[in-house]
Amino acid sequence: MIPQRLIASKRAGEEIDPAEFRSFLAGYLDGRVEDSQMAAFLMAVCFNGLGDKELAVLVDAMIRSGESLDRDAGPPGPRVDKHSTGGVGDKVSLPLAPLAAEMGMVVPMISGRGLGHTGGTLDKLESIPGFETRISLERFHAVLRDTGCAMIGQTREIAPLDRRLYALRDVTATVASLPLITASIMSKKLAETLDGLVLDVKVGSGAFLSSAEEARALAEAMVRVGASRGLEVTAVLSAMDRPLGRAVGHGLEVEEAVECLSGGGPEDLRELTVELAAEMALAGGLAASLDEGRGAAEALLASGAALERFCRMVSAQGGDPGFVASGRGLPAAPLQRPVLAARAGVVAAVEPRELGYALVALGGGRTRQDQEIDPRAGFRLEVQVGQEVEEGRPLAVVHGAGEDRIAAAERAVAGAFRIAESADTDGLPLILERLSASENSRLG
Ligand code: URA
Repeated sequence: MIPQRLIASKRAGEEIDPAEFRSFLAGYLDGRVEDSQMAAFLMAVCFNGLGDKELAVLVDAMIRSGESLDRDAGPPGPRVDKHSTGGVGDKVSLPLAPLAAEMGMVVPMISGRGLGHTGGTLDKLESIPGFETRISLERFHAVLRDTGCAMIGQTREIAPLDRRLYALRDVTATVASLPLITASIMSKKLAETLDGLVLDVKVGSGAFLSSAEEARALAEAMVRVGASRGLEVTAVLSAMDRPLGRAVGHGLEVEEAVECLSGGGPEDLRELTVELAAEMALAGGLAASLDEGRGAAEALLASGAALERFCRMVSAQGGDPGFVASGRGLPAAPLQRPVLAARAGVVAAVEPRELGYALVALGGGRTRQDQEIDPRAGFRLEVQVGQEVEEGRPLAVVHGAGEDRIAAAERAVAGAFRIAESADTDGLPLILERLSASENSRLG
């Protein structure tokens, strides 16, 4: 296998020989293929895609690059997980995993770090003092047995090829590709040995694949990969034409997740969390209908039971849950600056992608693979799409460190808000559609 020949084939839009492709992927893990060659290949895939056979080779190589979780090492019960295709302010996994565990599911969640302009669950969790996402499989199973949910990243043992490709795609603008997203998500989830999987496929300008048609094609591809390997997948298409919730940035998003787990927090975050929990309960056979699942999820958020489960998971993974009761302990930014409306009018749009890249520039994301991120950096949004604002009213508050970075972030955040005479649209419905191999229904 000659890497540059294989890259040239993909650049020319040709189909790659399966054996050559396997050797190229294995070569990336054993050092025969270097980062620059893989980045060039990934960019060629972004332009020319992968055929069905090539996608199957990629998914298979990604799963086989590591181990699959042993269900006998975990507790009994339906194993169900959820994964999002990536959004801005999307902290749903944080309340959802303990909520689903409280509902009776076993949730062995393998998550990712920030990707492109979107934030990652692992980076958010690591803003909790002491929280360890890099734990051994043995410990992961012990946490799962104790709390019903555990959250880790790709490791040397689980989906190592996704781990390497994911970090490279993050900094080379090679995320937005249907086959690459499909393989990345489905390899991790298939390695979890699940009974059911719910996917939150984002639609809108903040999603990697923005249009409803692209998002639907992505959802269908992932449902098909699941079906071909015996995993029932349900995909929910949800809005990402604006950020989810009010907080964007790691520590701030953990705070907001705790609000949601306490039965409060922004309505959109709560509604999506409840909807996905209901889908998971249906997939795991724990609810006879979505309505029944929604009712159970709402009750467990309101009672504080899901919050208590979250605190147990935080402790089990080495974190200090003291911040939940005291409101102190998460890393706080030294500087907080309001961004004021330059004119009166109606908030016509809050561009998620602009906010996501502003967070990267503020230190809350990576521009190099080995970079540490600043868990204090972020934005708290003070107004929503459709709301009337006076000139000088705070639109958002920037949290961060360093005068230059803060000033740049203030400009970027101001640019993300569009204030107009009137809002020409209310935006996408929060939940647009659901798809599965057995049924396909359109909502909203
Ligand atoms: N989430 C993943 O795990 N991978 C992607 O490529 C996109 C979102």
